[in-house]
Amino acid sequence: DNTGTAVQNPGSSSDPRRTEGEQSQTLTTRQGHPVTNNQNLRTIGSRGPTTLENYHFLEKISHFDRERIPERVVHARGAGAHGVFEAYGTVGDEPVRRYTRAKLFQEKGKQTPVFVRFSSVIHGGHSPETLRDPRGFAVKFYTEDGNWDLVGNNLKVFFIRDAMKFPDLVHAFKPDPVTNRQSGERIFDFISNTPEAMHMITLLFSPWGIPANYRQMQGSGVNTYKWVNERGEGVLVKYHWEPLQGIRNLTQPEAEKVQSKNFNHATQDLYDAIERGEFPQWELCVQIMSDGDHPELDFDPLDDTKIWSREQFPWLPVGRMTLNRNPQNYFAEVEQAAFGTGVLVDGLDFSDDKMLQGRTFSYSDTQRYRVGPNYLQLPINAPKKHVATNQRDGQMVYMVDSAPGQNAHVNYEPSNLRGLTEAPRTYPDHTPWVEGPLVRQSIERTNNFAQAGEQYRNFEDWERDDLIANLVDNLKDAAPVIQTKMVDLLTQCDTDYGRRVAEGLAQAGQSTEEDQQQAVRQAEENSHEAQPY
Ligand code: HEM
Repeated sequence: DNTGTAVQNPGSSSDPRRTEGEQSQTLTTRQGHPVTNNQNLRTIGSRGPTTLENYHFLEKISHFDRERIPERVVHARGAGAHGVFEAYGTVGDEPVRRYTRAKLFQEKGKQTPVFVRFSSVIHGGHSPETLRDPRGFAVKFYTEDGNWDLVGNNLKVFFIRDAMKFPDLVHAFKPDPVTNRQSGERIFDFISNTPEAMHMITLLFSPWGIPANYRQMQGSGVNTYKWVNERGEGVLVKYHWEPLQGIRNLTQPEAEKVQSKNFNHATQDLYDAIERGEFPQWELCVQIMSDGDHPELDFDPLDDTKIWSREQFPWLPVGRMTLNRNPQNYFAEVEQAAFGTGVLVDGLDFSDDKMLQGRTFSYSDTQRYRVGPNYLQLPINAPKKHVATNQRDGQMVYMVDSAPGQNAHVNYEPSNLRGLTEAPRTYPDHTPWVEGPLVRQSIERTNNFAQAGEQYRNFEDWERDDLIANLVDNLKDAAPVIQTKMVDLLTQCDTDYGRRVAEGLAQAGQSTEEDQQQAVRQAEENSHEAQPY
């Protein structure tokens, strides 16, 4: 286990690296100089001025000046924990080997260490955890074949199906570039022109958009991946995490109550539960579909705005994850953790899902900027296995990833002089046949509204009431063209859905003027000038 090493002190009391008189707790600089005065600047007389050769002070303050790194551009607020994944060896009633050769799933009881980071999406690193947002659910499996990252969300679908649109989607949800406030009008300006978002919007503005905490929420890989067996044959898969603690969501008023007292409640809930020894668990399930475009379905299996119905594609359990250890240091482990959809092991593969392919470039690209080009050498990100590359140098290189016995002069391949060599191939590659015209086109089977309508009808009454109230609240100050377009789109999902939002908006429009006058009167009555001191 190498995750703790970065934050532990090296020495015990007999540490030979300690000089005469130094205790294990003696403060030093990073150069190893014992610090005899950590309270005062070096000054001419006790009232100054200061001198410039204050090495200890300059090191201390300049390191402090660099303590923050860029936040994640999305999913900045998060909490993490370590744990273990235990395989069942089967997928439903069948041996898992039939579908995938990935080693972590093969034997019943096989354990793989994991690190999980949960997150909200839009706002900054210290924003309230009660905000309406999808929740990130990112899992790093440190397998014997290297790392596998499953980077998912709590909801099972997404707003868009083409990676080209992601920066626009995020800009619309992020604070206004002028006022620095999130705006319902900007969000729905984009969404009213994005019919494929109706399914996700229907979930997000319902109580499912505010999970009560991280332990009682589901996770989903959302995008379609592949499993590949020993013969090189692939099937399409979707991944889902089912919480064994049950699922709990908050209505908007419930969330506001929590937020007024504690804006870190989800981080606290996860940390405290693990400290108490109440280890949260999730079962990992997969849905399997044969590889292909499946014209018999009313949606495209590569479309991440759709769910695969459980009746047709049952959730088949493959293992269980337990989170049982809190990070020792938030920054070293949670903040610097880097997950990406490209991080797969043998037996797992990409599908042609266009979102998945776009994501796969984006994650490691942002991490080279956010953490640095050698982010994979950090203990939290490094695999817990042999790593030997010819990649060298760059900012903050921490070690040379060479193999024992490797000729240190040879940082290229191929070579005759004891350089690194390619691994033997154990199984045939998965080699799907691809042909077609090179185009910029949407998929054909968009079917943007059916599943959104079905979801609307499936909600319980209190969930539907909360959904309508939240949509009306966010749309009531939007330009009429946006309101009209939204009502039109929601009506195509379900006529009752569109009607209720339209009625809510009409009512809100009538009451707005009276409300405003009332609010002004109230503010005047309540205002007390503060006294200068
Ligand atoms: C984080 C890009 C869609 C789940 C991120 C980050 C980027 C990004 C740049 C920050 C990563 C970092 O700084 O380490 C994209 C792009 C997408 C996309 C370009 C679409 C084309 C999605 C979808 C999901 C998702 C569909 C859910 C299935 C996450 C999660 C994180 C994240 C969970 C946080 C990972 C962590 O905890 O460090 N995404 N994303 N993203 N994304 Fe996406």
